[in-house]
Amino acid sequence: MPVGHLVSLDNLTDSDVSGLFDRADVFERVRERANDRLRGQLMAVLFYEPSTRTRLSFETAFMRLGGSTMGFSDIRSSSVTKGETLADTIRIVASYVDAVVIRHPAEGSAQVCADLSGVPIVSGGDGSHLHPTQTLTDLYYLRRTKGRIEGLTVALCGDLLAGRTVHSLATALVRFGARVVCVAPSKLGMPPYVLDEIHKRYRGVVNYVDRLEDCLPEVDTIYMTRLQRERLPDELAAIDIPRIDQALLDKMRPDTLILHPLPRVDEIAYEVDADPRARYFEQAAAGVFVRMALLDLLLEQEGFCCAERPFRPVERPKEWAHCLNERCITVQEPALPQRPVVTDWSPKVPRCAYCEHELEQGLLPFADSGA
Ligand code: NCD
Repeated sequence: MPVGHLVSLDNLTDSDVSGLFDRADVFERVRERANDRLRGQLMAVLFYEPSTRTRLSFETAFMRLGGSTMGFSDIRSSSVTKGETLADTIRIVASYVDAVVIRHPAEGSAQVCADLSGVPIVSGGDGSHLHPTQTLTDLYYLRRTKGRIEGLTVALCGDLLAGRTVHSLATALVRFGARVVCVAPSKLGMPPYVLDEIHKRYRGVVNYVDRLEDCLPEVDTIYMTRLQRERLPDELAAIDIPRIDQALLDKMRPDTLILHPLPRVDEIAYEVDADPRARYFEQAAAGVFVRMALLDLLLEQEGFCCAERPFRPVERPKEWAHCLNERCITVQEPALPQRPVVTDWSPKVPRCAYCEHELEQGLLPFADSGA
């Protein structure tokens, strides 16, 4: 039986996504009532970065389904401190358990785990790259509250450069027919690989505004994010990002929802919490049902979440430059193989299959060969 992994939303077909949402609806309807669907199964939860919601909601989801969990949330208690690589750790852990959830600071780390594991790997976030289960939660919550995703206009606000939630979400929104408005300081805009996919693969529409006030009449949802200070150089970590307070609420449409993956720092004033349009706590609660549905399907439904990411190997891979993105797992663990790939929508732009950053063209011996 093929093993499904969730590293990117590309691993899910459209029908996987709608099946998952339908199942999440069922789990939400029966609420906390425990069931034994995954009784006897064991899931490892490996968190190399801080987390509250993602880790606890995965553990809650698995235990609500009757399974057990183990793992670590502090790398000081694992062999990382002795110099063990992620590749070695995952080989071992995957041989102990039925599924693994991993959050790791290196971009592409979840893909490395998927390549090496014989049990399902679910990404809980890989550096500033992607956060697929947060995106599933966001889409599920939008579908439930707005009744659809197609045709919605969603403002993505804040740090769109280093925030991983908005990278997976932007692409998924246009994939399912929504429009995106980016509200971010110019130095904290979306990375090129996300915009490239939105424009060329999905022919999606992205608009840019400087201030939230400039898009209020057109947006159905405002998705706020915090500044990812821990991942940004000092000069970017000091930039002001959009903020919602009572004065902005007063200008907003009555039906515009405010979402946030949380944690909130100061981009949403506390006075906003009491407004019926503020939905971030409800959104976080929905994450448990979405993760229950995901884990249940991954472990019980053959062929679920088995779609390949849309990458093709380049010709003559040995001739391509190594990935130079210092946050990429292949740079941090140089023994890992390099995987230069192209996509159908950008066939001339070689990328690293792990972090999706463009490979340095200048280093290619055959830059015009049309690979
Ligand atoms: C986000 C994350 O870790 O990327 N949190 C989450 O998982 N809900 C957002 C963040 O840390 O800003």
